[in-house]
Amino acid sequence: MAVSGALLVLFLFAHAAGNLKIFVGETDFDHYAEWLRELGTPLLPHAWFLWIQRVGLLVAIGLHIWAAAALTIRARKARPVKYAHRPKVQGSYAARTMRWGGVIIVLFVIWHILDLTLGTVNPAGGDSVPSARVVEGFAPDRWYVTLFYVLAVVAVGFHLRHGIWSAARTMGQQTIKGERRAKAIALTLSVILVAMYLSVPIAVMTGLVG
Ligand code: HEM
Repeated sequence: MAVSGALLVLFLFAHAAGNLKIFVGETDFDHYAEWLRELGTPLLPHAWFLWIQRVGLLVAIGLHIWAAAALTIRARKARPVKYAHRPKVQGSYAARTMRWGGVIIVLFVIWHILDLTLGTVNPAGGDSVPSARVVEGFAPDRWYVTLFYVLAVVAVGFHLRHGIWSAARTMGQQTIKGERRAKAIALTLSVILVAMYLSVPIAVMTGLVG
């Protein structure tokens, strides 16, 4: 869970940082997208490195879901008899929403690839440059799409907050002071990531970019 999660966290930060390139300029953003496809050449043919990354990402997502299912099954086996009285509120909001949060994130990523990678559901279409898909995709009249992005990114934030905290536990953190520190680090990193992601659609909606 922690190893595949750590790989996904690395991707999340790298992707959020790459998106900020749109503030430098739309042409720079498109150059960056082209550079992603040129990475590894001439050793590898065009876009091979990107495909290797995509396969790596898919494997990490698969392992993450598999580990989550295995842990749930193990927890159920350890306690086959249901609690007679189970308090409604258990753990933080982030901890209680991991499973459904994860499902929402997977559905979002499918929509997101159709929207901003393939352009199938984007007004700019599939033959456009990535910056055009971002600018037209988050146009003010498509506020409902932006709203979906905002909700999904906030779900990613909650998921990450609990994930980082859990990873600290996995790595052996168990003191009260360490717990406080792990919670603070998890919250700070999640807020930074959410802000990085949301800055792009908000900038397009308000006309700062585009
Ligand atoms: C609102 C913030 C976001 C913006 C503006 C954004 C922008 C983009 C763009 C422009 C692409 C296409 C890149 C290209 O074709 O060169 C892309 C691809 C992608 N994004 Fe995002 N993204 C955002 C949030 C996210 C989040 C939160 C996730 C994960 C949970 C994510 C995961 C992906 C994935 C997996 C791809 C496909 C990469 C590929 O295989 O080509 N994105 N994003």
